[in-house]
Amino acid sequence: MPKRPLDHRAGTATTSDLPAALAAPPSPDSPTPLLGGLTPSQFMRRYWQKKPLLIRGAIPDVAAPLSRDALFELATSEDAESRLVSHARGRWSLEHGPFDSDALPSVKRREWTLLVQGADLHDDRARALLDRFRFVPDARLDALMISYATDGGGVGPHFDSYDVFLLQVHGKRRWRISAQRDLTLKPGLPLKVLQHFEPEQEWLLEPGDMLYLPPHIAHDGIAQGECMTCSIGFRAPSANELIGQFLYYLAERGELAHSPAGERLYRDPRQSAVAHPAELPAAMIAELGAILARVKWTQRDLVSFLGSYLSEPKPQVVFDAPDRPLAEAAFIRRAQASGVRLDNKTALLYGARTYFINGEESALPRSRKWLCELADTRRIEGKRFVTLSTDESMTALLYEWYCAGWVRVGAFS
Ligand code: SIN
Ligand code: CO
Repeated sequence: MPKRPLDHRAGTATTSDLPAALAAPPSPDSPTPLLGGLTPSQFMRRYWQKKPLLIRGAIPDVAAPLSRDALFELATSEDAESRLVSHARGRWSLEHGPFDSDALPSVKRREWTLLVQGADLHDDRARALLDRFRFVPDARLDALMISYATDGGGVGPHFDSYDVFLLQVHGKRRWRISAQRDLTLKPGLPLKVLQHFEPEQEWLLEPGDMLYLPPHIAHDGIAQGECMTCSIGFRAPSANELIGQFLYYLAERGELAHSPAGERLYRDPRQSAVAHPAELPAAMIAELGAILARVKWTQRDLVSFLGSYLSEPKPQVVFDAPDRPLAEAAFIRRAQASGVRLDNKTALLYGARTYFINGEESALPRSRKWLCELADTRRIEGKRFVTLSTDESMTALLYEWYCAGWVRVGAFS
């Protein structure tokens, strides 16, 4: 593969200055260009999980949250999940990052693409872009992926199991889509490519245009010249994942394992001698069924499990605690002047009685309003902080989170 020195002057995409206010959650009943003039409520009713929607000029003045060089730089990091897909002489290849800065093909070479998942964890502008989609619950919103492609680049015709918004942020990409039933994949390839792709619709997307696709719509996006695309992705745990994780959660909490019934060891006083020792005993199978039938849980267990599980940081997430944290009084002064915000890697969810921050559950404080506000807007403005800071339990908690790297003091940089 040809080596390409990183040229920091050669960034083709520029970064945009997204005003901090744009990161506030969108209002469900205000029409927005982001959804082609629909309100988020209308979009959710008519399109979400139902049918594709092409939106011209969704973000008319959009620019890539990261320049090409900054994206390549991010792909060198262990903390970011990156993939390189190339297509040459009819053959697909896939490599997983991190990629040394000289390990990517030349930008002059055709038909390759670099995909970097979770850009929102590392970049404020990427996070602000993701925040525009917070009309969908945080429990469903997953991450922002940025792809860079040279002319002809793409990942091949495929389908995804999750909803996605594909936002063109630099250059042009031709998307072809199909609601075809046949989702058979080509065997023996390192990536998911459809065996028979029969496009039904096709559009050329320019910067600011966006395509929404519900799960299982076949699609193929091919770069026309160099381009960058942001994918706003969602998570949808399978029933198997939920069952497995929920039982694990109950067992961890001692609700299965440490109760007297849970600790009782298997007994078989009526076991007879066997001629087939390798055969599973029928009584043991029946006992497992009986144990599972006795598993009980409460509404609270459901909430606690979901909140902790969904706010758990992804395995590669490492929080950057401040090297030299401010003293508490200085932190409060700074927060009163310029506010606080959740770190991009922080997940903060709440239920009726408890909240969940980065996988940990706690009771909602008596003055819960500020906490729910912080969770919903991911920030507390300076002026609001001044009003709230008479509550010492609030400032103490926020200071603790600041020292852990979960909260930043000051608005978006
Ligand atoms: C891409 O950005 O190249 C791929 C996104 C997708 O098709 O899901
Ligand atoms: Co896709």
